[in-house]
Amino acid sequence: MSVLEIRNLHVSIEGKEILKGLDLTVKSGEVHAIMGPNGTGKSTLSYTIMGHPAYEVTDGEILFNGQNILEMETDERSRLGLFLAFQYPVAIPGVTLANFLRTALNARRKAVNPEDKGMPIPEFRKMLKEKMDMLRMDHAFAGRYLNDGFSGGEKKRAEILQMATLKPEIAVLDETDSGLDIDALRIVSEGVNTLRGKDLGVMVITHYQRILNYIQPDFVHVMLGGRIVESGGPELALSLEEHGYEWVREKYEGEAVNG
Ligand SMILES: Nc1ncnc2c1ncn2[C@@H]1O[C@H](COP(=O)(O)OP(=O)(O)O)[C@@H](O)[C@H]1O
Ligand SMILES: [Mg+2]
Repeated sequence: MSVLEIRNLHVSIEGKEILKGLDLTVKSGEVHAIMGPNGTGKSTLSYTIMGHPAYEVTDGEILFNGQNILEMETDERSRLGLFLAFQYPVAIPGVTLANFLRTALNARRKAVNPEDKGMPIPEFRKMLKEKMDMLRMDHAFAGRYLNDGFSGGEKKRAEILQMATLKPEIAVLDETDSGLDIDALRIVSEGVNTLRGKDLGVMVITHYQRILNYIQPDFVHVMLGGRIVESGGPELALSLEEHGYEWVREKYEGEAVNG
């Protein structure tokens, strides 16, 4: 069983404090939805978990299975079993999707078992095809440069394909629903649901309730002003859909704020 524990996390970017004492614990087997208005620090949280160098942790800690990860590089966190599906996936011209996935997979296997010699290529190809079929991706994508010229929906599928290949222990999906039409949203959600299970913990970060109709969370948290201000079950997401974020702002900021 894996546990990601975030305690009193304070994070600044370019000298501006964005996260202001955030607490959250995610265990394998659990799906947590993190909801909140734009600009509240959701992506900051996901980048900080993965160790993006622009995000400075000024206080608090992040523990993965009891181990402080804040001093670790991003690739080390990835090999440990943390995964982030980006809100805005970047293109890497010159690196094919298949090569990228095979390199990442073999690095992760080696971290789990130092004796591992990497997945044999025929086995890798077969595995990749199965997972692409699950996400209804054309096999030709494997030979294309990573995210280069991919549509919004194709990029998000490629992120979930990465997750399916790497089999992380804790996965953070940052607005995987943004830019997806309803069919793509359903396919991507089905992919996540297929991967769901006792060995995987998931943080679904989203602005809208919509994706939570497909990926049903065990816990829902509302983020505002760089902190988690409300936590509950799926009913909390429905209440946000019905009433918006205004009541949360009124309750925690003492006044209504636009945006
Ligand atoms: N690279 C950056 N430089 C300066 N400010 C940033 C940067 N990235 C994010 N911010 C600011 O941090 C705040 C939180 O952003 P973000 O974490 O992306 O929020 P969310 O994902 O909830 O929409 C916003 O006010 C945003 O303008
Ligand atoms: Mg964001």
